Amino acid sequence: MSNTFPLSSFASLRTPFYHYDLPLLRRTLDAIRAAVADHNNFQVHYAVKANANPVILQTIARQGFGADCVSGGEIEAALYAGFPAEKIVFAGVGKADWEIELALRAGIACFNVESLPELEVINDMALAMGRVANVAFRVNPNVDAHTHAKITTGLNENKFGIAMDDLLPAIRRTAEMKGVRYVGMHFHIGSQILELDVFDHLSERINELQARLEADGIHTSSINVGGGLGIDYADPDAHPIPAFSDYFRRFATHLRLRPGQQLHFELGRSVVAQCGTLVARTLYVKHGHTKDFLIVDAGFTELIRPAMYGSSHAIQNLSAAPGTASSVYDVVGPICESSDVFGKDVTLATAGRGDLIAFRSAGAYGEVMASTYNCRRLPQAHFTYGDE
Ligand code: LLP
Repeated sequence: MSNTFPLSSFASLRTPFYHYDLPLLRRTLDAIRAAVADHNNFQVHYAVKANANPVILQTIARQGFGADCVSGGEIEAALYAGFPAEKIVFAGVGKADWEIELALRAGIACFNVESLPELEVINDMALAMGRVANVAFRVNPNVDAHTHAKITTGLNENKFGIAMDDLLPAIRRTAEMKGVRYVGMHFHIGSQILELDVFDHLSERINELQARLEADGIHTSSINVGGGLGIDYADPDAHPIPAFSDYFRRFATHLRLRPGQQLHFELGRSVVAQCGTLVARTLYVKHGHTKDFLIVDAGFTELIRPAMYGSSHAIQNLSAAPGTASSVYDVVGPICESSDVFGKDVTLATAGRGDLIAFRSAGAYGEVMASTYNCRRLPQAHFTYGDE
């Protein structure tokens, strides 16, 4: 079943707002759990950056998932929502001292360390607090994720992680320290990945690295392959739930785990994208000389993905009666910047002032990236709860 909208209750709500279909989120979580049930050494952490709405976080935490955090604020939000500290991993190239201290105090599972200077600071702070921090090194496996340039991260030299050749020296340095313990390797090669063989390549790269480490007598207890599984933006109703079994099977088939080794995942978009919709109201239909503009009351302040990444979301006129004729519009927002465009030459049911317009698949990197630019208010969130 696809996303369902309680249209009658939408009429009285101030737009723009986010609507979340929690029954769809729960079905998505069930699908993930069912897909990992075949693999008892797989552990899924929800990537909080995709959507940190407290209701969403609590829904996910309740189902036993871990959390992947990239800031102290995300760690606090995850703990507050009920994610246990021992299932929280902490990544990020620029962890501030207060964030490291917060994570050490909370007793999180693992720091995904992205540089040697960071390792030194974690070690010093852990020693000062009488703790030993588990660390995994984020390694750039040099695998091309075949995705948008702004969301690809696994190629060799970028701000994230360390190069493969630097891993062994980093582990050796860790062995000399008393405040940190090497537990594993961490990878994340990009986001919105739809060509699943990219994950086969990642697995093969990890196998090579493992063999190199073992030749040096180094034992790795945990491997974290990050997130990245893509979703169907073009037709969310056809694919409301991503093919999780296929995704996990790629790793089960290609990654040679050692006995007792845990495989961690950090899924964000694939968990929450399809349950969320940005709902806006049509302000004006402006008939230009060569095209018509549908001007809505949401802009890149509510959903920045089209302006920032050139990505497109399916757009629907929720107010149109079935069978309404369609028109072609450039769908634009009110922000005073020419990049405030949701889509060009979009075909949708002919709209008039007041019609509700849905921007689908907006549950991931939507509300969480909203801003108050132009002194706009942050969008509210509304939920369909369904039966628990
Ligand atoms: N782990 C790490 C280390 C990451 O950097 C990310 C996403 C994830 C996990 C979750 O990846 P996912 O499963 O969601 O693909 N704002 C952009 C996406 C940025 C992704 C950043 N990192 C967008 O709207 O497309």
